[in-house]
Parts: sequence; structure tokens; C-alpha cells
Amino acid sequence: MNAAARNLYDVHDVRKDFPILHQQVNGHPLVYLDNGATSQKPRSVIDAVRHYYERDNANVHRGVHTLSERATNDYEGARDTARRFINANHRSEVIFVRGSTEAINLVAQSYGRPRLREGDEIIISTMEHHSNIVPWQMLAGQTGATLKVIPISDEGELDMDAYLKMLGPKTRIVSVVHVSNALGTINPVKAIIQAAHDAGAVVMLDGAQAAPHLAIDVQSLDSDFYTFSGHKVFGPTGIGVLHGKRALLEEMDAYQGGGDMIRSVSFEDTTYNELPYKFEAGTPNIAGAIGLGAALAYVSNLGIDAIAAHEQEVLEAAVSSLSEIPGVRLVGTAKHKSGIVSFVMDGVHPHDIGTIVDGEGVAIRTGHHCAMPLMKRYGLAATARASFALYNTREETDALAAAIRKVKEVFHC
Ligand SMILES: Cc1ncc(COP(=O)(O)O)c(C=O)c1O
Repeated sequence: MNAAARNLYDVHDVRKDFPILHQQVNGHPLVYLDNGATSQKPRSVIDAVRHYYERDNANVHRGVHTLSERATNDYEGARDTARRFINANHRSEVIFVRGSTEAINLVAQSYGRPRLREGDEIIISTMEHHSNIVPWQMLAGQTGATLKVIPISDEGELDMDAYLKMLGPKTRIVSVVHVSNALGTINPVKAIIQAAHDAGAVVMLDGAQAAPHLAIDVQSLDSDFYTFSGHKVFGPTGIGVLHGKRALLEEMDAYQGGGDMIRSVSFEDTTYNELPYKFEAGTPNIAGAIGLGAALAYVSNLGIDAIAAHEQEVLEAAVSSLSEIPGVRLVGTAKHKSGIVSFVMDGVHPHDIGTIVDGEGVAIRTGHHCAMPLMKRYGLAATARASFALYNTREETDALAAAIRKVKEVFHC
């Protein structure tokens, strides 16, 4: 099925769009496999941000002068691009935030805090990033609600039977990751949402690791809230998207007070602006939003299905070459996986793996990946993680395997 999609782009052509990839690191060509942490930026994104600062820099929404109009048009144009990217029903449902972390905090505080009571339940899973744990813990502390955690199998798949049993009349919010940053597991989010809705709960999806790899359709998913971060999908840092269903956003309180989120202010009373501005207090990250718009256009242009097909090939190559190395053990072997390989090596700390492969020009991440409860589930303090993006090649997985063999030489294991 992937043959047609595979032909849609030549990865070596695509790499030409990413200036940073063409450099030597420690005397070797850079092999950048830390895309789960942050991804590299195509020239079109860099140019969009530069163009904004060189030609159009002005504050949005408030000015009648030409530069302000241009800036506003580009900022709002980026919102339209983001709306199309996730197939949201309406642009007013697309809120610019700093990233997934801010979006989850916003939902916890603006939706959850006034609604949850003692005895209510919030469900998350064992494989969540800290950004999808701590905001709910804080909410539970503020409201007396209880946090429940869906267990996972050794392969790194959610225990759906346990989840279904957990759901009940007390469940108010389910918040799970679409794609795990530490394991690469693609969760069955449609089934998760359906079951939560049957129980009367709302669902937040953390799509930070899904947006660069999978088609997202919030209408077909029927998610109540969905978020992703710009910097992981080839856009700038400090910008991301929260999608929320309009009816929910309408009835929620503002998250922060300040400029732009108001319709009128007196010392006695304030009325809020319409959506999405009610949730965008203060001068937004205008350049970031414009850069994100360019990034999403880049991804859409290449075709997310073609990207997914390409990355599956790279993932399979990585899994097969790493599995052949004695002493390497993969962590997270779910049936449905995105381009992430976590692994450990007998007798070598992951930080030493990371340092030695860096000497070979290969950038990977080592540590707990902001998922300490998940590491605990596997009895590990840390793993090494290679995470792939649309510009990685099979040859780079060979370079990774060669660098890992070097680690074995150094440690005589
Ligand atoms: C699954 C997941 N959720 C949330 C986040 C937090 O994203 P950000 O730091 O961009 O807010 C990350 C970042 O690594 C992530 O991988």
C-alpha cells in the first residue's frame, strides 16, 4: 500500500530544504535522530519568520496601519492553515498557545477546575509525558478529584480492558497521548474517545508526537480537546495549537486575563472577547504562528501519508539493524508504532551511549524522556531513544547501528 506514497517524495531532495542537516559534527556528517525532542526547520519556515521581522513586524489586531494589517493577515492565515491541518470545524476552535504543555494546563484549569468535585475521576495512562500528568495532578489537588492510570503491557500497548473497566459515572476527563514520545506506540484513540463519551466524559488528546507523523482529523476522532507543539512539527519553539470543540470553549472561563482577550473592561467588570481570542491574552507569538503556518504548509505539501509511509520504512530499518546487535534490547514493541525506537544496552548507561554516538555525529536522546512513571513501569531509570522525521534516511539508521557497535567496542561488551 505504501508504494504509491513512497514515490511521492525523494528524501534526498527533501533534505536540501533543511539547511541545518548539512554539517559535520565531531568530524562526521550530522545524523539527527532527536526529532521527538524537537525537529529541524525547512528553509520556508526560516524565511517566513525572517520575512515577518524584516518586512511586516507590528502588533496584531490593534493597528490600522499597513504593517499591522499585514501581520494580522499572516497571523490569522496561519490559524486557517492550522485549522485545515487538523480538519477543525471552524477557525474559532483553533487557539494559539505556547505548546502542548500550556494547552493541557489551560484545559485542566479553565475546563476542569470549575467543574470537578471531590470524588470525580480523571483518567490518564502509564505512558504519559509529564506534561500530561502534572497538570491533572494539580487539578486533582485543587478539586479533590482522583487520578486513575491505565496500565500498559510489556510491549507498550494500553490495556484497553482495564480502561473500559475504569470508566464510569465518576469519570469526568480522559487525557491520553496519541503517540507515545518514549515508546512510539500509536494509541487507539478513536476507541478511547468513543468509550469515554459513552461514559459522559470529555477527552483531551496530547498530539505532540502525532502531528509530525500522522494525519489528524479532530472531527473524525471526535476529540473534545487536541493539542500539538509547533517545534516538533518543523515550526518554531514557543508556539502550538489547542483545538477545542466550540461549545466547550464557549462555556469555559478564560485562562489568563490581559490584552486582546477582552471585549470591554471597567473597574467593575470585564466581558471576554469572542473565540479564539478569549484564550489568547497578551501579544501572541506572532512570528512563531507565522512560522508554524509555513511548517504545516510544508508538511501538507509533502503529504502526511507519504511522510508516514517513508518513516515506517526508516523505522523498520532501524528496528531490524538494532535488533541484530547482541546486548541491545528494544523498549516498546507495540504493533502500531510511529518513528521512535527506545533501547537499552547490557552494561552501558544510556548517557554513555548518547555521548559515544555523538562522537560519531549521531544525535539521539537519553534519559527518562519526561516520562518517569513509564520508566518505573519497565524498571529502568533511562533509555536511549532514536526518533525519526520525514528527512531521515535508511542510511542514517546504518550510521546509528555502526555507532552503537562502537559503544560495544568501547565498553568491551
Ligand atoms: C508526548 C508529549 N507530550 C507533551 C510534550 C510537551 O511538549 P512541549 O514541551 O512542546 O509543550 C512533549 C514534548 O516532548 C511530548 O513528547
